[in-house]
Amino acid sequence: MPSYTLNVNGRDHLVNVSSESMPLLWVLRDVIGLTGTKYGCGIEVCGACTVLMNGQPEKSCKLDVSSAAGKPITTIEGLSPDRSHPAQQAWIALQVPQCGYCQSGMLMSVAGAMKAGHHGSEIASEVKNVCVCGTYQRIKQAVAGL
Ligand code: FES
Ligand code: FES
Repeated sequence: MPSYTLNVNGRDHLVNVSSESMPLLWVLRDVIGLTGTKYGCGIEVCGACTVLMNGQPEKSCKLDVSSAAGKPITTIEGLSPDRSHPAQQAWIALQVPQCGYCQSGMLMSVAGAMKAGHHGSEIASEVKNVCVCGTYQRIKQAVAGL
């Protein structure tokens, strides 16, 4: 069984997985136990599974665990220790989520765009995550101040 060291949220995890092509999403959720990252479409379209890898947003649902080894990965659990990330604060202030299912991936995409130095409407046009509840208006308002 292949084993890899994954650096997730600043901590190394030695994981044994059944296949080197096992998607990172399932390793995060089922092996490491970080269930904040969600499964939506499974075909790299909806963005529910977005994490940061090397500081950039990556969809984890089809990303082989072998290609994630040795690279710093941040999940929603590691975005901030106390919900103090500016995107989280904006989400709370504007009560963005409805069911909430898409929101961790949405926030990670927004956080990645911010890390890339983008602001406001730039973030809004860059983040293509799907929200089945249709919270797009509030997301647009929330990113406007970032
Ligand atoms: S679950 Fe990965 S993009 Fe939809
Ligand atoms: S808040 Fe329900 S899917 Fe986005």
